[in-house]
Amino acid sequence: MTEQSRTLSNVLVTGGAGFIGSNFIRFLLSDEGFNGKVFNLDSLTYAGNLENLRDVHDEHGGTRYHFIEADIRDFERVDEIFAKYEIDTVVHFAAESHVDRSIVGPRAFIETNIIGTVNLLEAARARWAGRDDVLFHHVSTDEVFGSLGETGQFNESTPYDPKSPYSASKASSDHLVRAWGHTYGLPFTISNCSNNYGPYQFPEKMIPVMIMNMVDRKPLPVYGDGSNVRDWLYVDDHSSAILRIMRSGRSSETYVVGGENEWQNLKLVGSLCTIVAEETKGDADELLDLITFVTDRPGHDLRYAIDCTKTKSELGWTQRHTFAEGLRHTVRWYLDNPTWVNHIRSGEYRKWMERNYDRR
Ligand SMILES: NC(=O)c1ccc[n+]([C@@H]2O[C@H](COP(=O)([O-])OP(=O)(O)OC[C@H]3O[C@@H](n4cnc5c(N)ncnc54)[C@H](O)[C@@H]3O)[C@@H](O)[C@H]2O)c1
Repeated sequence: MTEQSRTLSNVLVTGGAGFIGSNFIRFLLSDEGFNGKVFNLDSLTYAGNLENLRDVHDEHGGTRYHFIEADIRDFERVDEIFAKYEIDTVVHFAAESHVDRSIVGPRAFIETNIIGTVNLLEAARARWAGRDDVLFHHVSTDEVFGSLGETGQFNESTPYDPKSPYSASKASSDHLVRAWGHTYGLPFTISNCSNNYGPYQFPEKMIPVMIMNMVDRKPLPVYGDGSNVRDWLYVDDHSSAILRIMRSGRSSETYVVGGENEWQNLKLVGSLCTIVAEETKGDADELLDLITFVTDRPGHDLRYAIDCTKTKSELGWTQRHTFAEGLRHTVRWYLDNPTWVNHIRSGEYRKWMERNYDRR
C-alpha cells in the first residue's frame, strides 16, 4: 500500500452543487483527518442545486465552506479564483453529465467538459509552476472505455473507445489532463468510475426517475429490452475512493473505481419495485405493471464492469455499502425528502437559491 499522504488545504471542488460533488463535499468536511477549506465552484446549470448542500452551508458556510458561482468556460474567472483562494488541490467534477442530453445537444458537452477542463488545467499550470505539493484530481467515467460484451471488465489499461458525445468529451478531458501532466509536469490523478447512485441525484437519471415515477404511479421507462448491464456504486463509496486517491494515490496515475455490482436494467427496476412497495406499503406487482419498454438510446453501450484491483490493493479502498442497503437507503431518502423532490420538479429550487444565497 502507498504510504504517502498529501495534505489538502484549500480544495477547489468544481461542480460541487451537482449530485456527486455535493455528496463529496459533505463527505470531505466530515472526514476527521481533513482540516482544510472547501471552495465550491459551480455555474448552477439545471443540474446544480445548492439545496443539496443546505446542511453543509448551515454548519460550515463562511468558515470552512465557500460557494463561488462561476463558469469553468471562463478562463479569467477560474484563474482569479485560483489566485484569490490560494488553491492547492482541485477535484474536478463539473461537467455536462447526461448521455441523453449529449445526443440531443453535444455542443455544451464540448464546451464545458473539454474547454472548461483546459481552463482549469491552464490556471493550475500558471499558478502552480514548480510546485509538487499540489494536486489536480480529475473525476471521470468508465464510459470512456466503450462497451463490453457478455464478459470481461475494464481496468486502468483498457484502451479508450468512447461511443457517445458525453463519453467522447470525458475521454478527451482525461487525455488533456494526462497531457498537462506529461508536458508541463502538473501533478495529477484520474479516477474512472462506474454508475453512482444515492441521495441528491437529479431525477433525469435512472434510479431517481424510477423511484419518483413509482410514487406517482407513472410509467417506468426501460430502454430497449432492459438487458443492458451497469455496475452500480453507492455515491459515498465513490467519495471515499476519490479522497484516498487524493491523499495517497501516486501522481500521474489512473485508478478505476466500481461497485463490483453488475445489474441488468430490467432486474434493477424489478428490485426497486419491491423496495418501494415495501417502504410505502404498496403492491410490488402493481408497480411492475408500470414497466414500459421505450425505444433504445442510439448507440446504447451493452455492458460496463470494473476490475478495481489496483485501487483496492494500492490504496486499501473498498466499497462499504451493499447494494441492498444502499438502494433501500436511497429509496427512503427520496420518500423522506418531498420538499427537495418537489422543488426540483417545479423548478422552485432555482428561486430557492436566489432567495437563500449570496452567490458571489
Ligand atoms: N453520475 C455518475 O454516475 C458518474 C459516474 C462516473 C463519473 N461521473 C463524473 O462525475 C462528475 C459529476 O457527475 P454528477 O452526476 O454529479 O453530475 P451532475 O450533472 O449532477 O453535476 C454537474 C455539476 O457541474 C456543474 N457545471 C456544469 N457545467 C459547468 C460549468 N461550465 N462551470 C461550472 N460548473 C458547471 C453543474 O451546475 C452541476 O452542479 C462528472 O464529471 C461525471 O462525468 C459521474
